[in-house]
Amino acid sequence: MKTAITEMFGIKHPIIQGGMHYVGFAEMAAAVSNAGGLGIITALTQGTPEKLANEIARCKDMTDKPFGVNLTFLPTVNAPDYPGLVRTIIEGGVKIVETAGNNPAQVLPYFKDAGVKVIHKCTSVRHSLKAQSIGCDAVSVDGFECGGHPGEDDIPNMILLPRAADELEIPFVASGGMADGRSLVAALAMGADGMNMGTRFIATKEAPVHENVKAAIVAASELDTRLVMRPLRNTERVMTNDAVEELLKIEKEKGADLKFEDIIEQVAGVYPRIMTEGDMDAGAWSCGMVAGLINDIPTCQELIDNIMAQADEIITKRLAGFQAG
Ligand SMILES: Cc1cc2nc3c(=O)[nH]c(=O)nc-3n(C[C@H](O)[C@H](O)[C@H](O)COP(=O)(O)O)c2cc1C
Repeated sequence: MKTAITEMFGIKHPIIQGGMHYVGFAEMAAAVSNAGGLGIITALTQGTPEKLANEIARCKDMTDKPFGVNLTFLPTVNAPDYPGLVRTIIEGGVKIVETAGNNPAQVLPYFKDAGVKVIHKCTSVRHSLKAQSIGCDAVSVDGFECGGHPGEDDIPNMILLPRAADELEIPFVASGGMADGRSLVAALAMGADGMNMGTRFIATKEAPVHENVKAAIVAASELDTRLVMRPLRNTERVMTNDAVEELLKIEKEKGADLKFEDIIEQVAGVYPRIMTEGDMDAGAWSCGMVAGLINDIPTCQELIDNIMAQADEIITKRLAGFQAG
């Protein structure tokens, strides 16, 4: 399939694997890129420029296809070495960066000078327009359904994507709730040039996470996610578990007085315990409503091939059939 996104990133299929903390290692990114999509390494999981350089080198050993690096700007006091991470990405020869969180204006000139394409992940039309105005090459429009941080506007993709299409001039991909060929065709119909998936890629053979995480996603329905940290205006969609129910109880008790310190046990530093050790009640971990559509653990190649075959079938048979009638 050929779209503005496949052309921009030099990939076969318009499918991107979004950056994911403690999931987006070289193994994940390489598997997606080798299957014809765009795999993405998550810079902050590595933490330091030296470790990121090593991860980029490992990914290059596993694929000769394009892959990207996610750079998430967090509202944090102990900021990572962002200038060092930017330098490492450029010196590592990576040509695609997915930015997320705060506005990437400060790092954009460095990437532009180095010929790196930047796709910024946004949860609203106004942030997408801002990304366009500062010179981002594309945006990833993340609807309310998404795993991770959906923002505070709560607009689902059925509205957000056509709104983005009406306003944006640069290409965009649909993100949040995407799982299969139906998602891809719907995203294209609403004006996107491809799709970005997070949760779906965790339930694949190559995802370098504990089997318990994959099993939890397969077992979950669309009713099993919760929104946490809303009172802090740092809303995150996570899979429910004992720690999350405890967190929500604390949020309810503290009300408007809630502080980050009150819930630190449930959210800080829990990813290695969940993703690597498989301790599924250790804390809150991002997961999308799309878990309700995930019932298997294919290889990335099988997943992407199935998506493209289903999309083709829908376009050429189901939709074309309506026209004929
Ligand atoms: C476990 C997990 C960790 C994530 N970590 C990050 C991250 O560190 N940075 C980021 O920009 N997005 C992160 N995301 C969001 C994804 O990149 C993607 O935008 C989102 O999962 C799309 O929604 P979906 O899960 O419905 O496909 C994460 C998502 C998940 C499920």
